[in-house]
Parts: sequence; C-alpha cells; structure tokens
Amino acid sequence: MTTFPPELIQLLKKSTRVVALTGAGVSQESGLRTFRDAQAGLWAQYRPEDLATPGAFARDPKLVWDWYASRRESAKGALPNAGHYALVEMEKIFPEFTLITQNVDGLHRMAGSKNILELHGNILNVRCSECGTFAETWGDDLKSVPRCEKCNGLLRPDVVWFEESLPRAQLDAAINATHTCQVFFSIGTSGVVQPAAALAHAARTDGAVVIEINAEPTPLTEKVDFLFHGKSGEILPALVNAISA
Ligand code: OAD
Repeated sequence: MTTFPPELIQLLKKSTRVVALTGAGVSQESGLRTFRDAQAGLWAQYRPEDLATPGAFARDPKLVWDWYASRRESAKGALPNAGHYALVEMEKIFPEFTLITQNVDGLHRMAGSKNILELHGNILNVRCSECGTFAETWGDDLKSVPRCEKCNGLLRPDVVWFEESLPRAQLDAAINATHTCQVFFSIGTSGVVQPAAALAHAARTDGAVVIEINAEPTPLTEKVDFLFHGKSGEILPALVNAISA
C-alpha cells in the first residue's frame, strides 16, 4: 500500500493545471509488452529500434508490417487497467488536465480520457505511406503488404517512427501545457526518447512540481520532487483516493 506525503496531497488538492505524460509501462498491466521489454517468440531476434524506422520499412516492408500487425492484434485484445481509469478520474479532479501519451495502443481513449495528446500516433490506424490516405479496411494477403486503394502506395501503421517528426499540433499543445502546468507527472516511461523525454525537464525548469511513477529508476528519477516506485495500476488509484478523501 503506497503512502503519500501529506504535503503532496495538500499541493494536489489545490492544483488546477496538471499534466501527465505516460509511456508503455501504463499499459503493462493490461498485458501489453513495454517497448523495451524483451520481445517474444518470432520477434525475439529483432530490436524494436531496428523495426520502427522508415529505413527498415524501405528495406523490408513486409517484416515491419507483420511486426506491427502482431502488435496491433495485441492492442486490439487489450483492455484499460486501473491506472488508465485513475487518469480518467484525474481529468475530472483537476480543472485543466492534459494527458500526453507516447502510447499507440488507444487504451487511454478506451478508458474514457478526453483531453489526450497522442504524440506517437495510434497503432489501430493504418494509412498510405505515399499519399497519407487512411485505410478503413485492408486485405488479409499474407504474402505482401496491403496497398492504398487510391494510389497503390504501401500501407503502414499510423505511428511515428524513429527519425520521423511528431505531429506538430500535438507536440505544440504538449509543450504549451508543460510550460504552464503546476504539477507534471511522468508515469511508466523510461524517459529516453526525445522530444517526449525533454518535457519533464522543461516542466521542472519552469518551476512545476515533478512526480515520477515507475516500476524502475529512470534518467529522470534523481531530478524529481516526488518518486513512487511500483505499478501505475496500483499507485494511481491510491493517489486519486487520497486526493478525493
Ligand atoms: P519503455 O518500454 O521504454 O519504458 C517503459 C517504462 O515503464 C520503463 O521505465 C518501466 O520501468 C516502466 N514500467 C513497466 N511496467 C510498469 C508498471 N506496471 N507501472 C509503472 N511503470 C512500469 O516505453 P516508453 O518510455 O513508452 O516510440 O518508450 C517511449 C517510446 O520509445 C515509445 O513510445 C516508442 C519507443 O521509441 C515510438 O515508437 C516512436
């Protein structure tokens, strides 16, 4: 059972502008592997960093498509956990609450969060790699990557790959919320992928109270004001209870 310092609960009770940045750890208790977890089965021989790039897709589109297809199937079968639902409650508690996520699994939306900035896209969506048109359906041809109905370009997941830019409007909104927040939560993210990782540091520089919730130490750990080691699916509901009491 996590106990929270009374001064933190007092601070949260009077905070109005709060940001939460989430990463793959938040979905771990929904049964989804984190990005840097060892890969299972067929995919164990590949590093995610070597598959999630435009270069990998150009070299071997089928390999990259199949990897995302397997991750898409896992995401489709997953349900939000208590951590996702606690973040929905936080949106109701704080007058201005911005949820910034690096996750592509769509579980925050499924749980009911509304003000979400998806920095890395959504794995459930598929678009043309040439003309950008979104595909509603695509064939189940196991031999080749499905193609765009409009321009015949190869279809790809609507996620941001390494070396690609983040969606500008989402990133700008995330930066803006970070600069103006009083409290910044970093939850279930290893904090090693930019530019998302820089947000917590920017919040701190601007004087926000920074709180980390993570199963393990990260590069941010030594710099935070409050640290809770453990599972977000346990710590976040307990925190919401403590703020609401
Ligand atoms: P990572 O896989 O790098 O980190 C997951 C973090 O979650 C680790 O720090 C774990 O300690 C922590 N963790 C695991 N289980 C947890 C739990 N139950 N409760 C709390 N924390 C837990 O995932 P991200 O930080 O999300 O980007 O990775 C960031 C980005 O790197 C991904 O979005 C992906 C990748 O590049 C793209 O694909 C563009």
